[in-house]
Amino acid sequence: MATVLAASDLDRFAWPRGDGRQVPYAVFTDPAIFAREQERIYRGPTWHFVALADEIKAPGDFKSTFIGTTPIVVTRARDGQLAAWINRCAHRGAMVCRELRGNARAHRCVYHQWTYDERGQLRGVPFREGLKGKTGMPDDFDPGAHSLPPVRVEDYRGLVFGTLSANSPALTDYLGPDMLPWLDRIFHKPVVYLGCTRQYAKSNWKLYYENVKDPYHASLLHLFHTTFNIYRSNMQGRTLVDSRNGLHSIITTTPLADAETAGEYQKQDIATYRGGLKLADPSLLTVRTEFAEQTSNNIHTLFPSTVIQQIHNTLAVRQVLPKSAGEFELVFHFFGYADDDAELRKLRLKQANLAGPAGYISMEDTEATELVQRAVESCGADDGSYMAMGDEARDQGTSLITEHMIRSFWRGYRGMMGWGD
Ligand code: FES
Ligand SMILES: [Fe+2]
Repeated sequence: MATVLAASDLDRFAWPRGDGRQVPYAVFTDPAIFAREQERIYRGPTWHFVALADEIKAPGDFKSTFIGTTPIVVTRARDGQLAAWINRCAHRGAMVCRELRGNARAHRCVYHQWTYDERGQLRGVPFREGLKGKTGMPDDFDPGAHSLPPVRVEDYRGLVFGTLSANSPALTDYLGPDMLPWLDRIFHKPVVYLGCTRQYAKSNWKLYYENVKDPYHASLLHLFHTTFNIYRSNMQGRTLVDSRNGLHSIITTTPLADAETAGEYQKQDIATYRGGLKLADPSLLTVRTEFAEQTSNNIHTLFPSTVIQQIHNTLAVRQVLPKSAGEFELVFHFFGYADDDAELRKLRLKQANLAGPAGYISMEDTEATELVQRAVESCGADDGSYMAMGDEARDQGTSLITEHMIRSFWRGYRGMMGWGD
């Protein structure tokens, strides 16, 4: 593992400006920066989506996942409460749970079969008394002192978040008053888990964060958005960042008729606009109105690892799991509402094809992040990016041609990492 970057080493990375307009490429490639992020951000006072409560609803249900690079298991205990623990055996450090999900009353480490209950309490140690009166554990061995480290978890409206830091504020304080209404909008009634997709990207996790805070790219990179009028830059859009630190944000777009938005795309000769293209089965583009304001896109990013998505009628929570400076895993958890009728459920599943690893829209996003990673790694990371779109514009909150949410992200990130101003 790379040495964690000390505060005294921060100066060797030059940020031409502190306002997020220019970012040194080293933040995407340097292993010491990655190690410092794990320490200060992922094991720091931040909350991370780890499961939908519906994924682990029965006593004994469990799911293994990660907070940053730290493996954890989230379980439903016998009393119905949620519990979570670090997935590293208290004996000699092996990964205890090796399955993605399941139901179990006990979790047994395969190495020497130390056994833990669903709260991670040590319940069994083979040959604890030795064999035929010989050996065994010392008399002062206390199983209670060798449980798996607990992880704090909280359920907000069916979303389970976890944190590795004792210093994290209450979850609702972390999410904050600017963002909570947007969560409440989607999670206004019980949700059910429909399934997940997983993909690995050969790029840095922050490139994905830039991507989901970037309304500018969405109608240019994605042919599907642009051509089929799911998202165009001249729709009514709003972009909002958390006023406290700029780290969480949301993009919403309200659809307009094709005739109202297509003209500008023809005029600007946008390559991904293909006039006249039609889907053989247009039912994919059907929209059922289910919110007071039926946004076509609603991309809500919660720092540093959670993205909540509503695109037409498909709903998902995306989980960003960094693996190294140049790799992350992305998991899409698709969900619906418990009271969906059969037709709406079918539509949600059909529209799940818009997102995920082979999603008609989202497959281009991780590819774009890999294009950046490949180029900045092979050119050397002593240069940086330039993100001035919309800077100094009067009201960036109502334009989709802006990079202000990315600039806010970088300002907040600099503060958390100790670069500061
Ligand atoms: S490492 Fe888990 S029982 Fe030995
Ligand atoms: Fe995108």
